Amino acid sequence: MIEIKKNVYWVGKVDWELRKFHGDEYSTHRGTTYNSYLIRDKKTALIDTVWRPYGTEFVENLDKHVSLKDIDCVVAQHAEIDHSGALAELMEHIPDTPVYCTNNGVKSLKGHFHKDWNFVPVKTGDTLSLGKKELTFIEAPMLHWPDSMFSYLSSENILFSNDAFGQHLASESLYNDLVDQAELFQECIKYYANILTPFSALVEKKIDEFKGLNVPVDMICPSHGVIWRNDPLQIVDKYSEWSKGFRENQITIVYDTMWNGTRNLAEAIAQGIKSADDKVTVKLFNISHSDKNDVVTEVFKSKGLLVGSPTINRGILSAVAGFLEQIRGLKFKEKKAAAFGTYGWSGESVDMINKGLEDAGFELMESGIKSTWNPDEESLKKSIDFGKKIAQKIKNSKHQ
Ligand code: FEO
Repeated sequence: MIEIKKNVYWVGKVDWELRKFHGDEYSTHRGTTYNSYLIRDKKTALIDTVWRPYGTEFVENLDKHVSLKDIDCVVAQHAEIDHSGALAELMEHIPDTPVYCTNNGVKSLKGHFHKDWNFVPVKTGDTLSLGKKELTFIEAPMLHWPDSMFSYLSSENILFSNDAFGQHLASESLYNDLVDQAELFQECIKYYANILTPFSALVEKKIDEFKGLNVPVDMICPSHGVIWRNDPLQIVDKYSEWSKGFRENQITIVYDTMWNGTRNLAEAIAQGIKSADDKVTVKLFNISHSDKNDVVTEVFKSKGLLVGSPTINRGILSAVAGFLEQIRGLKFKEKKAAAFGTYGWSGESVDMINKGLEDAGFELMESGIKSTWNPDEESLKKSIDFGKKIAQKIKNSKHQ
């Protein structure tokens, strides 16, 4: 239990071991934290809990610091079990304690735990007085679940933002100014790219709505990673930037290869891009050997994406198919793309990749480039020229 402001405590769990999240869908190279907060006033309120495997530890730890029966209310900002997992164990000790959440929170908490707890549904603007301190609730539907909400503690100027503004970063240093800044922002952008990209329009709207409240913010306390106490609005500004079709001067090439033919095309295309524009960053990833969430982060930072696969069984390699499915759901905006690939006799891969890229919302720059078998000198030259053309198109685009 660590006091972060007068009578406001962090009571969460640092998970140094976690390497995969959402099943195996999200890599967490640097672990994570599940942040829970306790506010003591005339009433004692608990905001969120921790992931279920740490439930017993969490409840025992809470009980050491504050008698569980002294918890007057629980605020469940989001039902996903990394935050509500320990709730069931806690509620066994305090079954009648009111649980404040959104209407959708009631549905999803019931859906997870099948319990009819003493739910108190709240809407944006509803308040909960704890004595001198008061919580105001702000619904944040689809950031990133229908039930998500923020809570603002007026007397201490703290925004409890749940998943928003968080990162998967385990640290014993609780605050943003005490951790490595490169690591911190890498985890922030990865989190945004992989989880929040599809909801960017809502992010922008919610930020405008919150800024419109004109309330002071001394601290932003997300439910993962460090607390933003030094210039807390810097992460809000970053979200604002990321939510508006974010692009750096980068082109990313993602491929898989069987006997290096498609890899040779990828490298020739990269050579062409660099020769036409030496300022653009070009990164290549063999998707079957790369961390897919890191690659998505690179795509998020890119103006252009090139995807390649050889043809196999009239289709594409499974790692490329998985990657196309992953980006389809993320709904990237204002990014350009093209396909490439080798083949022996039928050659469907480029058309299939084109379709996948279009389904994912990318603007196709070209119909793509194919080469038979192992590309010869002429094919490699054509690929270099293709790369040059791509670089020029991206350079000249209105989104430059
Ligand atoms: Fe949406 Fe951290 O759970």
